[in-house]
Amino acid sequence: MKKLVWMFSLLLAMPFAAQSAGGPAIELEPAENNLRDQNSLQRGAVLFSNYCMACHSLKYMRYNRIARDIGWSDEEVVAKMAYGMNSVVDDVETRMLPGVGMDVLGTEPPDLSLMARLKGTDYIYTFLRSYYQDGQGKWNNHALEGTSMPNVLEGIERHASSEDYAQAARDISNFLEYVGEPAKMKRMDLGWKVIAFLLVLLLLTYILKKEYWRDIKH
Ligand code: HEC
Repeated sequence: MKKLVWMFSLLLAMPFAAQSAGGPAIELEPAENNLRDQNSLQRGAVLFSNYCMACHSLKYMRYNRIARDIGWSDEEVVAKMAYGMNSVVDDVETRMLPGVGMDVLGTEPPDLSLMARLKGTDYIYTFLRSYYQDGQGKWNNHALEGTSMPNVLEGIERHASSEDYAQAARDISNFLEYVGEPAKMKRMDLGWKVIAFLLVLLLLTYILKKEYWRDIKH
């Protein structure tokens, strides 16, 4: 029994150990995003199209899936995210031509479909907001020192209030969390129903067991 308790606590601790081993050097700001906030997801999708798709793809997503999940029609998603240039069944591909990233930035921008799963939503939020200018006025980032990604939200930071700037980063992070696991809300809604069903089943089987053993001496 003792051994079992040990093994169980080790299993519980494992994800935390894994996360702390590969984590970023700085403390992450909580994104405080909300996957149920459909307006935020829609704003995030538009911001993603305007500020990120010049370099990044979401190659595991199609436009029509996004439309269905965040409350747009097929026409709307193509108009708002692809300037009417793609078909709804297309994957969400970057507008950058192959090889340009390497030539201009020295590296290919990664696909962001699973980035929120890999690094966490708080990381994306923090990363977008951690740009600073060093002594020579060169941009760098506290979350990823020496990064070759430019400070793409600089314009918003400069011209909007700090709340609106934070909200823009939050909406983009929210959208990328949704993209990382499109069925997450369904899973969470279904989860408690399954648990409730199992509890009812437990009660019924317990009553049944009582009934079976009633006449047997034990
Ligand atoms: C001009 C091209 C460009 C644009 C526009 C751009 N990125 Fe990037 N991004 C890059 C490159 C290049 C990298 C790889 C950075 C590196 O490894 O140093 C990157 C990496 C990332 C990473 C991974 C960071 C890590 O820790 O590995 C995230 C997350 C990210 N970008 C999010 C975004 C978001 C969100 C936007 C839009 C708001 C955006 N990017 C816009 C070029 C771009």
